Amino acid sequence: MARYLTGVQSSGVPHLGNILGAILPSIRFSEQIGNDCIYFIADYHSLTTIKTAEERISNVHATAAAWLAFGFNHKKNILFRQSDVKQVLELTWILSCFTPFPMLANAHSFKDKSERLSDVNAGLFTYPVLMAADILLYDTEFVPVGKDQIQHIEIARDIASAFNRHYQTEALVLPQAALQKDGMTIPGTDGAKMSKSYGNYIDVFAEEKALRKTIMSIKTDSTPMEDPKDPENDTVFALYRLIASENETMELARLYRAGNFGYGHAKQMLFEKCLDFFGSARQRYSELKSEPAMIEGILAEGAVRASRKADEVMARVKTLTGFK
Ligand code: ADP
Ligand code: TRP
Repeated sequence: MARYLTGVQSSGVPHLGNILGAILPSIRFSEQIGNDCIYFIADYHSLTTIKTAEERISNVHATAAAWLAFGFNHKKNILFRQSDVKQVLELTWILSCFTPFPMLANAHSFKDKSERLSDVNAGLFTYPVLMAADILLYDTEFVPVGKDQIQHIEIARDIASAFNRHYQTEALVLPQAALQKDGMTIPGTDGAKMSKSYGNYIDVFAEEKALRKTIMSIKTDSTPMEDPKDPENDTVFALYRLIASENETMELARLYRAGNFGYGHAKQMLFEKCLDFFGSARQRYSELKSEPAMIEGILAEGAVRASRKADEVMARVKTLTGFK
């Protein structure tokens, strides 16, 4: 059995980058025989940026609905809300006392965020320790994440090693990142990394009209309609190839190179491909979103099972550290 664990923050509706970069690859891991997957919604982490209760709860439901809409089997695996398993906070404190201060000060996500955000709170600083606790609390071996999270996994590994070394034990399992082969950073509508915090994301669950509007707003160069275009240097093409078949991708590249084909045409094709690729997930997502009580039921059941596993690890950690 290989234990996989990942989390997605409840800081918005999961977008195309989250879905293709993290949710779909994680679901593929969960479908392989012999893998035991624990996936959760990181709502404590979202408090670093989101302070409104209604917004957090609605984002938790949206994130859970996205996992379920893409077919994550929550019965065979576990889907839960981070804040439903309180042991994670206890472990965070214990681990923070094994975390060298400079390791956090040098974390690049803290540097990025502290430059960009006006609210530079201590939660942003200790964010990787909570993430390490998420991972170590379940004896996780593999963590499917996008490239931007690799340093956080290394931090979790370093904290676990420091703890184990101190107590001359193997009580904490050392995790490693599980990246997909084509692990890439998916561009947003402005060509930079797609992110909830950059406002450049594509919400594939949005109403058709809004989805089309976002796709039509993708930044392209100013090559005139009649001139040939370079598909390798264009965001619309980069997104299209992520969800289209090889033949469809080759055909679009041919149209770009042939000329008399505008970016507006390419955007329309991307829009139609999105509706086609995400059609059934969009349908299931909107059904699930209208049943918050059902989602709460699934998360509550997941939390009970996650909590049992967490207790096993906490028992080891507390014995070693002398807490009852
Ligand atoms: P965001 O940057 O939008 O806030 P999160 O930090 O919540 O996204 O990321 C959730 C998961 O989605 C992580 O595993 C992350 O690596 C992945 N992810 C986020 N944005 C992208 C992207 N543009 N391309 C690929 N993967 C991404
Ligand atoms: N930090 C991750 C992100 O921003 C979310 C996250 C929290 C996570 N805890 C985790 C991911 C544990 C993997 C494992 O995307």
